[in-house]
Amino acid sequence: MAEQEAGKHVSELMIFLGAVIFVTGHPCHSRQQIMYAAENRALRGFAYANKTVRSRVICARECSMDERCKSFNFVGCNKMCELNFATRREHPEDFNTAHRGSVYFDADEDTPLYSLIDSSASRYKTCKMLLDAGYRSSCIYTIYPKAFGNDSLRVYCDMETDGGGWIVFQMRQDGSVDFDRTLAEYQSGFGNLSGEFWLGNDNLVAVISDPSPGLWQLRIDLGNWEGETAWEKYEDFRLSPDTYNLQYWQYEGINTNGDSLSKAKGQPFRKCSPSLKGAWWFPQSCFLGDIDSNLNGQYYFDANAGYDQAGPRLCWTLLDNVFIAYAYDVRFGLLLP
Ligand SMILES: *[C@@H]1O[C@H](CO)[C@@H](O)[C@H](O)[C@H]1NC(C)=O
Ligand SMILES: *[C@@H]1O[C@H](CO)[C@@H](O)[C@H](O)[C@H]1NC(C)=O
Ligand SMILES: *[C@@H]1O[C@H](CO)[C@@H](O)[C@H](O)[C@H]1NC(C)=O
Repeated sequence: MAEQEAGKHVSELMIFLGAVIFVTGHPCHSRQQIMYAAENRALRGFAYANKTVRSRVICARECSMDERCKSFNFVGCNKMCELNFATRREHPEDFNTAHRGSVYFDADEDTPLYSLIDSSASRYKTCKMLLDAGYRSSCIYTIYPKAFGNDSLRVYCDMETDGGGWIVFQMRQDGSVDFDRTLAEYQSGFGNLSGEFWLGNDNLVAVISDPSPGLWQLRIDLGNWEGETAWEKYEDFRLSPDTYNLQYWQYEGINTNGDSLSKAKGQPFRKCSPSLKGAWWFPQSCFLGDIDSNLNGQYYFDANAGYDQAGPRLCWTLLDNVFIAYAYDVRFGLLLP
């Protein structure tokens, strides 16, 4: 397995060299340069441009066409091509850590000596374990939660927010996915891991049923159309297996006077009347005045769209200083401490 992997890298490298030798730049001056790969490495902090491209060969072409480009990182899982204005030789201190899933290129002949080859076909249980193993890009990864036995789960890992290592279980950013779904759909999950999605209550329960990584934390990040952002964080996040009752211990956030989940705490995950969009930890009364959050509510595309009341609308109320998420960006995360 490990040998096969290594062999694959070598053949990719050879194809790559063949492809790049003849790359020319601007018609007036062509740069012909061979660039060498260091696998599972990246130079961070010197990118002057990031582009999404199909492959490392195209990333190399982008680099060769730009005088400023001295080296580049290509991240496989999100096809991100990061063009750098510096090299590993100039900044060895910014190169030393492992960046699994990324490949670094520059024109120094010793570059391949810095490759890290992953010999253990490890099965990571959480995003935090992936982060600790050197996966530093926010991407879709496969994890192997204990409760899944030999099965795996594809998840989006946020490797940047608050130290990184978060399993994202909900994302809303452009209103492209309809969240007004049946309870069965909320149980199994829906949407698009690269865009907007709900990971699924049953997946969530399975992931957090494993206490061995430690207490699970819940983090919520929000932004509204006025450009305000907010976050809140909860300790010891739990869901009961049957009705998904929400439990947590403490919380902290930007506004410590108010906890916008306080009325959802202890409630089962449910649907109310059709006018209350989505499903959430709504209070049993389903009374609008009792609802202080519904991150699965109706998404509005801009600040001028007709707002309905909090409840049907995607909403999050920080007591004290009412913060309503006319959201452009909302995510939940999970982490182990
Ligand atoms: C490019 O991406 C890297 C890693 O995600 C980030 O740290 C950097 O700020 C980005 N640079 C630019 C110019 O967008
Ligand atoms: C899981 O996979 C391993 C290795 O392939 C196998 O030995 C084991 O029996 C499998 N366990 C289950 C529950 O299928
Ligand atoms: C998933 O969402 C991303 C980002 O919005 C989009 O580019 C992509 O086409 C979507 N994929 C599918 C299968 O809908």
